[in-house]
Amino acid sequence: MINSLRGMNDILDNDSIRFEYFISNSSKIAKKFGFTFIQTPHLEESALFKRSVGESSDIVGKEMYQFIDKGNNDVCLRPEGTAGVVRAFIQKKLDRSKGVNKFFYYGSMFRYERPQKGRLRSFNQFGCESFGLSNMYEDANMIMLIKEILDFFKITFVIKLNSLGCKECMPKYKSSLVEYLSKFKTTLCDDCQRRVVTNPIRVLDCKNSNCQSLFGNSPKITYSLCDECNSDFEKLKSILDNNGVIYEIDPNLVRGLDYYSKTAFEFISSNIGSQNAIAGGGRYDRLVEFLDGRATPAIGFAIGVERLLELIDMPDIKRDGYYFGAMDEDAIDLINSLGNRKRAQDRVVIEYEAKKLKAHLKNADRANVQYCVIIGEEELLKNSVWVKNLDSKEEKLINIEQL
Ligand code: HAM
Repeated sequence: MINSLRGMNDILDNDSIRFEYFISNSSKIAKKFGFTFIQTPHLEESALFKRSVGESSDIVGKEMYQFIDKGNNDVCLRPEGTAGVVRAFIQKKLDRSKGVNKFFYYGSMFRYERPQKGRLRSFNQFGCESFGLSNMYEDANMIMLIKEILDFFKITFVIKLNSLGCKECMPKYKSSLVEYLSKFKTTLCDDCQRRVVTNPIRVLDCKNSNCQSLFGNSPKITYSLCDECNSDFEKLKSILDNNGVIYEIDPNLVRGLDYYSKTAFEFISSNIGSQNAIAGGGRYDRLVEFLDGRATPAIGFAIGVERLLELIDMPDIKRDGYYFGAMDEDAIDLINSLGNRKRAQDRVVIEYEAKKLKAHLKNADRANVQYCVIIGEEELLKNSVWVKNLDSKEEKLINIEQL
């Protein structure tokens, strides 16, 4: 038997009902905030992610599904959605119009991680990307959009917020952090010793408790922001306060992707175990330019769909539509044509094997229809059908024409 690959799950049965429920309602909310749907390919040039997510990130360094295709192109399965949307934005020359463009998307992302609860190698994200607005009201808007989605599904969360500064203040902060870390060179874990050289702020995200204990007194980015970044961060906090959004400042929140500047945020759930980030995002004002487009401010986020599905309380699904079944071989043609006619207006399930009434009722119940329509020998003679309303349990013999 061939099974799916490790860390790659199918979505079917109850999970697919939840999945559709999540995607359709989140899409509605994103549209309400002015976002339109975008779909980009699953496969892109590897260089796109190397240049955006960053060579020093774990995603690019260790986790990409990268290969040379039959045309000798270096390609990879997308590990995240932002880079592809930015590429499409530039390729469509939308960076040349001064307008605002807002996109939402959902689909599979691929990261060769060590699978565990809440951490998959093929997982789905629902994301939004907004281009053209540098105003902090847009940052607050994005946070409130995620909040509205999570509130809709009655999911509780904590918002962690940080500012990662800009090309003026971040390099200065990095130098002060490296200077501080130089005192602990040998005590840091192997990964952090490497990070100090490749991308020092990523040490702050280390899960090793010994490393974390060393960072208590480390310099904090929030005290190193330049005037503009500081006033933007203050502005964002005041907009969120005025709108009743509760958040925690986390100066160690650095995100695992290199393209961020200024605002960075994560939504954390305490109900799903150690992989507790249900959404993450931030501002990436330099990425469009970095990928050869015209400088365009931008901000976005992505929600991890599988992590959320666990938390969604599904409403009761109402019975809907018709089940058609025959108790006699001779009636199958008739239920087929009646069922197909009914399908013009309603949801219809047709069973093409003659069965006993009990078996049909069981099937109809499993198909979650409201009406079970049966034709047997007697009904054929009387040119009628037997109908049971599975909600009210009412049963009737009615003329075929009346159906
Ligand atoms: P990210 O934080 O890497 O950000 O991923 C966003 C969310 O995807 C996470 O919070 C988590 O819920 C989910 N996720 C990530 N990796 C896995 C995994 N291996 N298994 C299951 N779920 C996972 C990004 O991807 C950015 N592109 C977000 C963004 C959009 N920033 C700006 N625009």
